[in-house]
Amino acid sequence: MDSVAVEIRQLKQEKNAVILAHYYVPDPVQAVADEIGDSFYLSRAATRSPAQTIVFAGVSFMGESAKILNPEKTVLLPDPQADCPMAHMAEEAEILRMRAEYSDLAVVCYINSTAKLKTLSDVCVTSSNAVKIVRKLPNRNIFFIPDRNLGKYVSQQVPEKNIILNNGCCPVHQRMTPEIVVQARQARPNALFLVHPECREAVVGLADFVGSTAEIIQYAEESPAEEFLIGTEDGVLYELRRRCPEKRFYPLSDGQICGDMKKITLEKLRDSLKYGTGEVEVSDKVCRAAWKPLNRMLELAK
Ligand code: 13P
Ligand code: SF4
Repeated sequence: MDSVAVEIRQLKQEKNAVILAHYYVPDPVQAVADEIGDSFYLSRAATRSPAQTIVFAGVSFMGESAKILNPEKTVLLPDPQADCPMAHMAEEAEILRMRAEYSDLAVVCYINSTAKLKTLSDVCVTSSNAVKIVRKLPNRNIFFIPDRNLGKYVSQQVPEKNIILNNGCCPVHQRMTPEIVVQARQARPNALFLVHPECREAVVGLADFVGSTAEIIQYAEESPAEEFLIGTEDGVLYELRRRCPEKRFYPLSDGQICGDMKKITLEKLRDSLKYGTGEVEVSDKVCRAAWKPLNRMLELAK
């Protein structure tokens, strides 16, 4: 085993720490994690773990959410510069304008958002529970922030609601186009196409299955098919190939790489554990206000 990985295992015990990793971080980091998962799984894992320190191998909104749900714990981000661009793609003024326009409005906030945006929202969702939670809300008018693609997907699944879209998106998933899908399917006619709902509507419309990272992995594992085209960030290929070594997985296209997730290296993870660097700080006021929509998500997703 890599000597840095050995050091991480020792430090983890010494420091009473748990390592949570998202499927998009580099393979060697996933390999040393205690828990790997999608955004929803990791939020729950953060509340379940008895460890005093949570090292979050992911981007800043993930570390912030873990801190908001566990304000008494130390949460470390191996690289605090690892930030999701989409997390910033909504405006407070627009949220206030929508609230003034619709008296029964619910602001539904994808967890890929800053802590500040969460404080302005009624409930958080992830890609694995957005449809279920929006369906359960008593409100008819929904402002879905920041991801217009996930918002569009939810609006198609829950047509009884008026879902107002916001103009944010994930630059990594947005790169995938229907033309790329058509070409890839011609090249691999036997492969099923599995896609993340952060992709544009026209790409999602061509998929055999739509789901979060964990749902894509579960679907591939349970499917009798042997070949799959994967329409999400390449990091999921590590877990797909680990769980299904006999199946073949192909990224839909080149460049399905989230540069921010890839900032999390084994060396940075070790240094964060060793020196306590990258501690996530969220003010008490923001923690209290952002806890409400996050906790409501945990409740409604049950
Ligand atoms: P999930 O792992 O919840 O599917 O989220 C994907 C993502 O883009 C995380 O940044
Ligand atoms: Fe953000 Fe997209 Fe990277 Fe996920 S893959 S962290 S949504 S930029």
